[in-house]
Amino acid sequence: MILHQPMKIFFMFLSQSKAMNVAAKKWGLKIGASQVVAGKNIESAIARVNELNKQGLTCTLDHLGEFVDSKEEALEATEYCIKTLDSIASSGVDCNLSLKMTQLGLDISEEFCLENMRRIVGTAKQYNNFVRIDMEDYSHCQQTLDILKELRKDYDNVGTVIQAYLKRAKEDIKNLKGTSLRLVKGAYKESHEVAFQDKSKIDENYFNIIKAHLLSGSYTAIASHDHQIIEKVITFVKENQIENSQFEFQMLYGFRTDLQQELVKKGYTMRVYVPFGQDWFGYFMRRMAERPQNVAFALRGLLSK
Ligand code: FDA
Repeated sequence: MILHQPMKIFFMFLSQSKAMNVAAKKWGLKIGASQVVAGKNIESAIARVNELNKQGLTCTLDHLGEFVDSKEEALEATEYCIKTLDSIASSGVDCNLSLKMTQLGLDISEEFCLENMRRIVGTAKQYNNFVRIDMEDYSHCQQTLDILKELRKDYDNVGTVIQAYLKRAKEDIKNLKGTSLRLVKGAYKESHEVAFQDKSKIDENYFNIIKAHLLSGSYTAIASHDHQIIEKVITFVKENQIENSQFEFQMLYGFRTDLQQELVKKGYTMRVYVPFGQDWFGYFMRRMAERPQNVAFALRGLLSK
Protein backbone atom coordinates (compact mmCIF):
# COMPACT_ATOMS: atom_id res chain seq x y z
CA MET A 1 0.00 0.00 0.00
CA ILE A 2 2.96 2.34 0.69
CA LEU A 3 3.85 1.84 -2.96
CA HIS A 4 0.35 2.80 -4.10
CA GLN A 5 0.85 6.56 -4.58
CA PRO A 6 4.16 6.42 -6.55
CA MET A 7 2.74 3.57 -8.67
CA LYS A 8 -0.42 5.55 -9.35
CA ILE A 9 1.63 8.54 -10.50
CA PHE A 10 3.87 6.31 -12.64
CA PHE A 11 0.98 4.56 -14.43
CA MET A 12 -0.92 7.83 -14.82
CA PHE A 13 2.19 9.37 -16.40
CA LEU A 14 2.45 6.42 -18.82
CA SER A 15 -1.26 6.62 -19.68
CA GLN A 16 -0.82 10.25 -20.79
CA SER A 17 2.36 9.66 -22.80
CA LYS A 18 1.54 10.15 -26.48
CA ALA A 19 4.78 8.43 -27.54
CA MET A 20 3.98 5.29 -25.52
CA ASN A 21 0.40 5.24 -26.76
CA VAL A 22 1.57 5.46 -30.37
CA ALA A 23 4.29 2.82 -29.87
CA ALA A 24 1.92 0.40 -28.13
CA LYS A 25 -0.42 0.33 -31.17
CA LYS A 26 2.28 -1.68 -32.95
CA TRP A 27 2.86 -4.18 -30.14
CA GLY A 28 -0.48 -6.02 -30.06
CA LEU A 29 -2.22 -6.67 -26.74
CA LYS A 30 0.73 -7.04 -24.39
CA ILE A 31 1.44 -7.19 -20.64
CA GLY A 32 -1.88 -8.84 -19.88
CA ALA A 33 -4.04 -6.28 -21.69
CA SER A 34 -6.03 -9.08 -23.36
CA GLN A 35 -7.58 -9.76 -19.93
CA VAL A 36 -9.37 -6.42 -20.07
CA VAL A 37 -9.50 -5.58 -23.80
CA ALA A 38 -11.82 -7.64 -26.03
CA GLY A 39 -9.54 -8.11 -29.02
CA LYS A 40 -8.16 -5.86 -31.71
CA ASN A 41 -11.05 -5.77 -34.17
CA ILE A 42 -14.81 -5.39 -34.35
CA GLU A 43 -15.41 -9.08 -35.10
CA SER A 44 -13.72 -10.28 -31.91
CA ALA A 45 -15.45 -7.56 -29.88
CA ILE A 46 -18.92 -8.50 -31.19
CA ALA A 47 -18.21 -12.18 -30.47
CA ARG A 48 -17.29 -11.26 -26.89
CA VAL A 49 -20.43 -9.12 -26.51
CA ASN A 50 -22.50 -12.04 -27.74
CA GLU A 51 -21.01 -14.28 -25.03
CA LEU A 52 -21.67 -11.64 -22.36
CA ASN A 53 -25.27 -11.20 -23.56
CA LYS A 54 -25.79 -14.93 -23.13
CA GLN A 55 -24.80 -14.48 -19.47
CA GLY A 56 -27.55 -11.88 -19.03
CA LEU A 57 -25.22 -8.88 -19.33
CA THR A 58 -25.87 -5.91 -21.58
CA CYS A 59 -22.82 -4.12 -23.02
CA THR A 60 -21.33 -0.93 -24.35
CA LEU A 61 -18.57 -1.13 -26.95
CA ASP A 62 -15.68 1.31 -26.98
CA HIS A 63 -13.28 1.41 -29.91
CA LEU A 64 -10.20 2.48 -28.00
CA GLY A 65 -8.46 5.68 -28.96
CA GLU A 66 -7.54 9.14 -27.73
CA PHE A 67 -5.04 11.95 -28.42
CA VAL A 68 -5.93 12.28 -32.10
CA ASP A 69 -4.57 15.48 -33.63
CA SER A 70 -5.05 14.97 -37.38
CA LYS A 71 -8.36 15.44 -39.20
CA GLU A 72 -7.70 12.31 -41.20
CA GLU A 73 -7.39 10.13 -38.09
CA ALA A 74 -10.44 11.75 -36.48
CA LEU A 75 -12.52 11.04 -39.62
CA GLU A 76 -11.26 7.46 -39.66
CA ALA A 77 -12.28 7.07 -36.01
CA THR A 78 -15.71 8.55 -36.83
CA GLU A 79 -16.17 5.98 -39.62
CA TYR A 80 -15.13 3.25 -37.20
CA CYS A 81 -17.77 4.32 -34.67
CA ILE A 82 -20.40 4.22 -37.44
CA LYS A 83 -19.13 0.81 -38.53
CA THR A 84 -19.38 -0.38 -34.92
CA LEU A 85 -23.02 0.78 -34.75
CA ASP A 86 -23.70 -1.01 -38.08
CA SER A 87 -22.16 -4.22 -36.70
CA ILE A 88 -24.13 -4.00 -33.46
CA ALA A 89 -27.33 -3.65 -35.49
CA SER A 90 -26.58 -6.37 -38.03
CA SER A 91 -25.45 -8.89 -35.39
CA GLY A 92 -28.45 -8.14 -33.15
CA VAL A 93 -26.38 -7.97 -29.95
CA ASP A 94 -27.64 -6.03 -26.92
CA CYS A 95 -25.11 -3.24 -26.84
CA ASN A 96 -24.68 0.51 -27.20
CA LEU A 97 -21.64 2.66 -27.99
CA SER A 98 -19.20 4.57 -25.78
CA LEU A 99 -16.63 6.95 -27.24
CA LYS A 100 -14.03 9.54 -26.39
CA MET A 101 -14.32 12.83 -28.26
CA THR A 102 -10.56 13.49 -28.33
CA GLN A 103 -10.52 10.57 -30.76
CA LEU A 104 -13.03 12.41 -32.93
CA GLY A 105 -11.20 15.71 -33.25
CA LEU A 106 -12.04 17.59 -30.05
CA ASP A 107 -8.47 18.89 -29.87
CA ILE A 108 -8.67 20.06 -33.50
CA SER A 109 -11.85 22.11 -33.20
CA GLU A 110 -15.16 21.88 -31.38
CA GLU A 111 -17.11 22.47 -34.62
CA PHE A 112 -15.31 19.66 -36.41
CA CYS A 113 -15.87 17.28 -33.50
CA LEU A 114 -19.54 18.26 -33.27
CA GLU A 115 -19.98 17.51 -36.98
CA ASN A 116 -18.46 14.04 -36.47
CA MET A 117 -20.61 13.47 -33.39
CA ARG A 118 -23.76 14.39 -35.31
CA ARG A 119 -23.01 11.67 -37.85
CA ILE A 120 -22.45 9.06 -35.12
CA VAL A 121 -25.42 9.99 -32.94
CA GLY A 122 -27.62 10.29 -36.07
CA THR A 123 -26.64 6.77 -37.13
CA ALA A 124 -27.33 5.46 -33.62
CA LYS A 125 -30.75 7.14 -33.71
CA GLN A 126 -31.64 5.33 -36.94
CA TYR A 127 -30.82 2.04 -35.20
CA ASN A 128 -32.67 3.08 -32.05
CA ASN A 129 -29.37 2.88 -30.21
CA PHE A 130 -27.59 5.12 -27.70
CA VAL A 131 -24.21 6.88 -27.56
CA ARG A 132 -22.38 7.55 -24.30
CA ILE A 133 -19.67 10.23 -24.39
CA ASP A 134 -16.93 9.19 -21.94
CA MET A 135 -15.60 12.03 -19.82
CA GLU A 136 -11.87 12.61 -20.25
CA ASP A 137 -9.53 14.86 -18.27
CA TYR A 138 -10.65 18.18 -16.80
CA SER A 139 -9.29 20.25 -19.68
CA HIS A 140 -11.99 18.68 -21.91
CA CYS A 141 -14.87 18.73 -19.43
CA GLN A 142 -16.61 22.01 -20.37
CA GLN A 143 -16.13 21.37 -24.11
CA THR A 144 -17.72 17.92 -23.67
CA LEU A 145 -20.73 19.38 -21.89
CA ASP A 146 -21.07 22.14 -24.53
CA ILE A 147 -21.09 19.61 -27.36
CA LEU A 148 -23.55 17.40 -25.48
CA LYS A 149 -25.88 20.42 -25.08
CA GLU A 150 -25.74 21.09 -28.84
CA LEU A 151 -26.38 17.44 -29.68
CA ARG A 152 -29.30 17.17 -27.29
CA LYS A 153 -31.13 19.95 -29.13
CA ASP A 154 -31.65 17.39 -31.91
CA TYR A 155 -31.10 13.98 -30.31
CA ASP A 156 -32.31 12.27 -27.15
CA ASN A 157 -30.11 9.19 -27.62
CA VAL A 158 -26.90 10.67 -26.26
CA GLY A 159 -25.54 11.18 -22.76
CA THR A 160 -22.26 11.63 -20.98
CA VAL A 161 -20.37 10.90 -17.78
CA ILE A 162 -19.96 12.95 -14.62
CA GLN A 163 -16.92 12.40 -12.39
CA ALA A 164 -17.50 12.62 -8.63
CA TYR A 165 -13.95 13.78 -7.90
CA LEU A 166 -14.67 17.08 -9.65
CA LYS A 167 -15.83 19.88 -7.38
CA ARG A 168 -18.21 21.04 -10.13
CA ALA A 169 -20.00 17.64 -10.29
CA LYS A 170 -22.90 18.62 -7.99
CA GLU A 171 -23.71 21.68 -10.13
CA ASP A 172 -23.36 19.71 -13.38
CA ILE A 173 -25.81 17.11 -12.12
CA LYS A 174 -28.37 19.86 -11.44
CA ASN A 175 -27.91 21.29 -14.95
CA LEU A 176 -28.19 17.86 -16.54
CA LYS A 177 -31.50 16.85 -15.02
CA GLY A 178 -33.34 14.59 -17.48
CA THR A 179 -30.16 13.50 -19.27
CA SER A 180 -28.98 9.89 -19.09
CA LEU A 181 -25.71 10.03 -17.17
CA ARG A 182 -23.05 7.53 -16.26
CA LEU A 183 -21.70 8.47 -12.83
CA VAL A 184 -18.13 7.52 -11.92
CA LYS A 185 -15.53 8.47 -9.32
CA GLY A 186 -13.08 9.75 -11.99
CA ALA A 187 -9.97 8.22 -13.53
CA TYR A 188 -7.54 11.06 -14.34
CA LYS A 189 -4.95 12.89 -12.27
CA GLU A 190 -6.48 16.32 -11.53
CA SER A 191 -5.29 19.27 -9.43
CA HIS A 192 -6.68 20.03 -5.98
CA GLU A 193 -8.09 23.30 -7.40
CA VAL A 194 -10.68 21.38 -9.40
CA ALA A 195 -10.86 17.94 -7.83
CA PHE A 196 -11.18 16.36 -4.40
CA GLN A 197 -8.07 14.35 -3.62
CA ASP A 198 -9.27 12.55 -0.53
CA LYS A 199 -10.81 9.12 -1.22
CA SER A 200 -13.49 9.42 1.48
CA LYS A 201 -14.51 12.85 0.15
CA ILE A 202 -14.76 11.45 -3.41
CA ASP A 203 -16.84 8.48 -2.19
CA GLU A 204 -19.15 10.83 -0.28
CA ASN A 205 -19.60 13.11 -3.31
CA TYR A 206 -20.12 10.04 -5.51
CA PHE A 207 -23.02 8.76 -3.43
CA ASN A 208 -24.48 12.29 -3.20
CA ILE A 209 -24.55 12.82 -6.96
CA ILE A 210 -26.00 9.32 -7.50
CA LYS A 211 -28.82 10.11 -5.06
CA ALA A 212 -29.43 13.55 -6.62
CA HIS A 213 -29.66 12.22 -10.18
CA LEU A 214 -31.89 9.31 -9.19
CA LEU A 215 -34.20 11.55 -7.15
CA SER A 216 -34.54 13.97 -10.08
CA GLY A 217 -36.11 11.06 -12.00
CA SER A 218 -33.23 10.91 -14.49
CA TYR A 219 -31.74 7.73 -15.91
CA THR A 220 -28.60 6.87 -13.94
CA ALA A 221 -25.80 4.46 -14.72
CA ILE A 222 -23.75 3.68 -11.62
CA ALA A 223 -20.34 2.69 -13.00
CA SER A 224 -18.22 1.32 -10.19
CA HIS A 225 -16.56 -1.86 -8.93
CA ASP A 226 -17.03 -0.67 -5.36
CA HIS A 227 -19.35 -3.19 -3.65
CA GLN A 228 -19.96 -0.77 -0.75
CA ILE A 229 -21.32 1.92 -3.09
CA ILE A 230 -23.38 -0.68 -4.95
CA GLU A 231 -24.92 -1.95 -1.70
CA LYS A 232 -25.74 1.62 -0.63
CA VAL A 233 -27.39 2.30 -4.01
CA ILE A 234 -29.49 -0.87 -3.73
CA THR A 235 -30.71 0.14 -0.26
CA PHE A 236 -31.39 3.70 -1.45
CA VAL A 237 -33.46 2.73 -4.50
CA LYS A 238 -35.53 0.32 -2.41
CA GLU A 239 -36.16 2.94 0.28
CA ASN A 240 -37.20 5.50 -2.33
CA GLN A 241 -39.25 3.16 -4.54
CA ILE A 242 -37.07 3.90 -7.55
CA GLU A 243 -37.88 1.47 -10.35
CA ASN A 244 -35.12 -0.83 -11.64
CA SER A 245 -35.83 0.58 -15.12
CA GLN A 246 -34.49 4.02 -14.03
CA PHE A 247 -30.93 2.88 -13.42
CA GLU A 248 -28.27 0.36 -14.31
CA PHE A 249 -24.95 -0.78 -12.93
CA GLN A 250 -21.87 -0.73 -15.12
CA MET A 251 -18.46 -2.38 -14.77
CA LEU A 252 -15.45 -2.74 -16.99
CA TYR A 253 -14.86 -5.88 -19.02
CA GLY A 254 -12.79 -8.39 -17.05
CA PHE A 255 -13.38 -6.81 -13.62
CA ARG A 256 -15.39 -8.33 -10.74
CA THR A 257 -17.19 -10.81 -12.98
CA ASP A 258 -18.67 -12.60 -9.93
CA LEU A 259 -20.24 -9.37 -8.71
CA GLN A 260 -21.55 -8.68 -12.22
CA GLN A 261 -23.31 -12.07 -12.20
CA GLU A 262 -24.64 -11.52 -8.70
CA LEU A 263 -26.32 -8.28 -9.79
CA VAL A 264 -27.83 -9.94 -12.86
CA LYS A 265 -29.26 -12.69 -10.64
CA LYS A 266 -30.81 -10.04 -8.39
CA GLY A 267 -32.63 -8.65 -11.44
CA TYR A 268 -30.61 -5.49 -12.03
CA THR A 269 -29.44 -4.26 -15.42
CA MET A 270 -25.69 -4.83 -15.53
CA ARG A 271 -23.83 -3.26 -18.45
CA VAL A 272 -20.27 -4.26 -19.25
CA TYR A 273 -17.99 -1.67 -20.84
CA VAL A 274 -16.13 -3.62 -23.51
CA PRO A 275 -13.09 -1.85 -24.97
CA PHE A 276 -11.44 -3.15 -28.11
CA GLY A 277 -8.89 -2.05 -30.71
CA GLN A 278 -5.20 -1.37 -31.16
CA ASP A 279 -5.09 1.77 -29.03
CA TRP A 280 -5.17 -0.05 -25.68
CA PHE A 281 -2.24 1.48 -23.82
CA GLY A 282 -3.78 4.60 -22.18
CA TYR A 283 -6.87 2.64 -21.10
CA PHE A 284 -4.80 -0.18 -19.66
CA MET A 285 -2.42 2.12 -17.78
CA ARG A 286 -5.34 4.00 -16.16
CA ARG A 287 -6.68 0.67 -14.87
CA MET A 288 -3.24 -0.11 -13.43
CA ALA A 289 -3.17 3.31 -11.74
CA GLU A 290 -6.55 2.74 -10.11
CA ARG A 291 -5.64 -0.36 -8.13
CA PRO A 292 -2.22 -1.81 -7.34
CA GLN A 293 -3.89 -5.26 -7.39
CA ASN A 294 -4.48 -4.75 -11.12
CA VAL A 295 -0.73 -5.09 -11.63
CA ALA A 296 -0.83 -8.61 -10.18
CA PHE A 297 -3.93 -9.30 -12.29
CA ALA A 298 -2.07 -8.22 -15.44
CA LEU A 299 1.03 -10.20 -14.58
CA ARG A 300 -1.07 -13.33 -13.97
CA GLY A 301 -2.53 -12.82 -17.45
CA LEU A 302 0.96 -12.44 -18.87
CA LEU A 303 2.30 -15.56 -17.19
CA SER A 304 -0.67 -17.66 -18.28
CA LYS A 305 0.07 -16.88 -21.97
P1 FDA B 1 -12.43 2.08 -6.50
O1 FDA B 1 -11.25 1.84 -7.40
O2 FDA B 1 -12.56 3.38 -5.80
O3 FDA B 1 -12.45 0.90 -5.45
C1 FDA B 1 -13.25 0.96 -4.27
C2 FDA B 1 -13.22 -0.39 -3.61
O4 FDA B 1 -13.94 -1.34 -4.41
C3 FDA B 1 -11.83 -1.00 -3.45
O5 FDA B 1 -11.19 -0.52 -2.28
C4 FDA B 1 -12.15 -2.48 -3.37
O6 FDA B 1 -12.62 -2.83 -2.09
C5 FDA B 1 -13.29 -2.61 -4.36
N1 FDA B 1 -12.80 -2.94 -5.72
C6 FDA B 1 -12.59 -2.08 -6.73
N2 FDA B 1 -12.16 -2.72 -7.83
C7 FDA B 1 -12.08 -4.02 -7.49
C8 FDA B 1 -11.70 -5.20 -8.20
N3 FDA B 1 -11.32 -5.15 -9.47
N4 FDA B 1 -11.77 -6.38 -7.52
C9 FDA B 1 -12.15 -6.44 -6.23
N5 FDA B 1 -12.53 -5.35 -5.51
C10 FDA B 1 -12.50 -4.17 -6.14
N6 FDA B 1 -13.68 7.39 -15.48
C11 FDA B 1 -13.63 8.59 -16.10
O7 FDA B 1 -12.93 9.49 -15.65
N7 FDA B 1 -14.37 8.79 -17.24
C12 FDA B 1 -15.19 7.83 -17.76
O8 FDA B 1 -15.84 8.07 -18.78
C13 FDA B 1 -15.23 6.57 -17.10
N8 FDA B 1 -16.02 5.56 -17.57
C14 FDA B 1 -16.14 4.39 -16.84
C15 FDA B 1 -17.03 3.39 -17.25
C16 FDA B 1 -17.22 2.26 -16.47
C17 FDA B 1 -18.19 1.21 -16.92
C18 FDA B 1 -16.51 2.11 -15.24
C19 FDA B 1 -16.73 0.93 -14.35
C20 FDA B 1 -15.60 3.08 -14.85
C21 FDA B 1 -15.39 4.20 -15.64
N9 FDA B 1 -14.47 5.18 -15.27
C22 FDA B 1 -14.45 6.38 -15.94
C23 FDA B 1 -13.46 4.89 -14.21
C24 FDA B 1 -13.89 5.40 -12.86
O9 FDA B 1 -13.83 6.81 -12.84
C25 FDA B 1 -12.96 4.87 -11.74
O10 FDA B 1 -11.66 5.34 -11.98
C26 FDA B 1 -12.91 3.36 -11.64
O11 FDA B 1 -14.15 2.77 -11.86
C27 FDA B 1 -12.40 2.97 -10.24
O12 FDA B 1 -13.30 3.35 -9.24
P2 FDA B 1 -14.39 2.35 -8.62
O13 FDA B 1 -15.60 3.13 -8.29
O14 FDA B 1 -14.62 1.21 -9.56
O15 FDA B 1 -13.79 1.76 -7.29
